[in-house]
Amino acid sequence: MKRRWWKEGVVYQIYPRSFYDTNGDGIGDLRGIIKKLDYLKELGITIIWLNPVYKSPNDDNGYDISDYQNIMDEFGTLDDLQNLISELHKRGLKLIMDLVVNHTSDEHLWFIRSRSSKQSPFRDYYIWRSGKNGRKPNNWKSFFGGSAWEKDKATDEYYLHLFTKKQPDLNWENPEVRDKVYKMMKWWLDKGIDGFRMDCINMISKEAGLPDTDECDSRKTLRTRPFINGPRVHEFLQEMNTKVLAGYDIMTVGECAGVTTEDAMKYAGEDRHELDMIFQFELVELDFGPEGKWDIGQWKLPDFKNVISRWQKALHGKAWNSNYLMNHDQPRALSRFGHDGKYRRESAKLLATLLLTLEGTPYIYQGEEVGMTNIAFDSINDYRDVATLNFYQEAVGNSMDKKRVMEAIHYRSRDNSRTPMQWDSSENAGFTKGNPWIKVNPNYKQINISEALKDPDSIFYYYKRMIELRKHNPCLVYGDYTLLKDEDENIYVYLRTYGKERFLVILNFSDNISFLKLTEPGSHAEFIIGNYEVSVKTGIDKKMRPYEARVYRL
Ligand code: GLC
Ligand code: CA
Repeated sequence: MKRRWWKEGVVYQIYPRSFYDTNGDGIGDLRGIIKKLDYLKELGITIIWLNPVYKSPNDDNGYDISDYQNIMDEFGTLDDLQNLISELHKRGLKLIMDLVVNHTSDEHLWFIRSRSSKQSPFRDYYIWRSGKNGRKPNNWKSFFGGSAWEKDKATDEYYLHLFTKKQPDLNWENPEVRDKVYKMMKWWLDKGIDGFRMDCINMISKEAGLPDTDECDSRKTLRTRPFINGPRVHEFLQEMNTKVLAGYDIMTVGECAGVTTEDAMKYAGEDRHELDMIFQFELVELDFGPEGKWDIGQWKLPDFKNVISRWQKALHGKAWNSNYLMNHDQPRALSRFGHDGKYRRESAKLLATLLLTLEGTPYIYQGEEVGMTNIAFDSINDYRDVATLNFYQEAVGNSMDKKRVMEAIHYRSRDNSRTPMQWDSSENAGFTKGNPWIKVNPNYKQINISEALKDPDSIFYYYKRMIELRKHNPCLVYGDYTLLKDEDENIYVYLRTYGKERFLVILNFSDNISFLKLTEPGSHAEFIIGNYEVSVKTGIDKKMRPYEARVYRL
């Protein structure tokens, strides 16, 4: 495959609201990010992805944009952003921004005009329909609960919103909408940003006639919905590529829920001229129950290996993978795939080993590098995420047991990853001198960056070493991936091969000692890195301690 900076880079995702507050209003800001750039440089990451920082009434924390070409008041100004870009570039780091163009805020000028009358030149910027026999235009549901249609008084018609009712969907069928979006993208690229993470980008094309969908609730059937991978989505993306993306040396990653590896090759195939890579959801949906996201199921290592292996194999040589274990929409990876109690340190390092030895660009989410964990607020009043609050209302309204509702929220809420960054052991974890917009995780006294930086054996320094290892070994970036069969269902073993170079990765995903039954390859293995003291440095010790991870060069 062609060598590219964004394949060799390591992305760090920043959720600005929770990163670092410099003016004491309890909300992270752009200046806060600038203050912490040396910390990120020390970690070794090379690309930063910023969640939306545009003007927004914050119904969905910035994913409801009212002005694409301005910065949210709480976060700072366009000058601050320009400074951030130059401070990043000075350090050899790149910046990718969130691009949220499936929908806008209902407070965006386009929507204000669109809703004002049926004759407005902006009417067709959004998806308006009249009701059917006094009912909604179809049975689509919002991802955040309730119907995806909202009736608007001014004209007595309904508009579509796949997310909250303050996030009306743009009408991509309208060429004027597309042109405005492309123009806005160029404006940002000309400011010197290095790419986009494209929000819900596989939902921009809706099936003509907006037909009813059979199964509206279960996430498992998401792919069959009339607004997922719609009929014109590839045409739109190719147009965007020709008109905008192709003119810049940038990276793009599309958020694509409900895609298979086949679909991914269409979005991100090397010769397709659409996107560079996509985020798929198979791994982070392994623990969905039959009712979907809020129905908490269990994940099993064999399925986990299967998903990763399938994506590694299918895309190799054809398209580029992106690898993430969490983000701002997911619970903390450590609490989900690792062990956030006794083996917190070991399992966080094990997950780091996995993330940084797969083919594809790795994405680290803020706090993951010091082993931050899920939060469990006792009261629903401490939660802020609109999806969580809506679920609570709906579930309690349907007389589901409150205790069970809170349990589901503790496990799944997006606020698990949105509590403030834990910088040190001072009040509010050193995140703010004021009142944080969401409470800090009380474990910040033990788990924080200042502690991690003092301890050479910390999770932080392990991430740093893994990033370093990846940077110096193209085999870990471009090499072929082979899953090795091991009968033990606690152990995950794979090989990366690149010409004559070979790395073997062994991960024990359990809190028990497990024995490696591997026969092949063996005696000449050279130990490179691991999360425990290892006495045998040549050849492989078959005994794997709880959450032990080791990388060998063969
Ligand atoms: C994406 C974002 C999520 C947001 C939603 C609507 O899934 O990652 O945070 O709520 O889109 O924009
Ligand atoms: Ca602030």
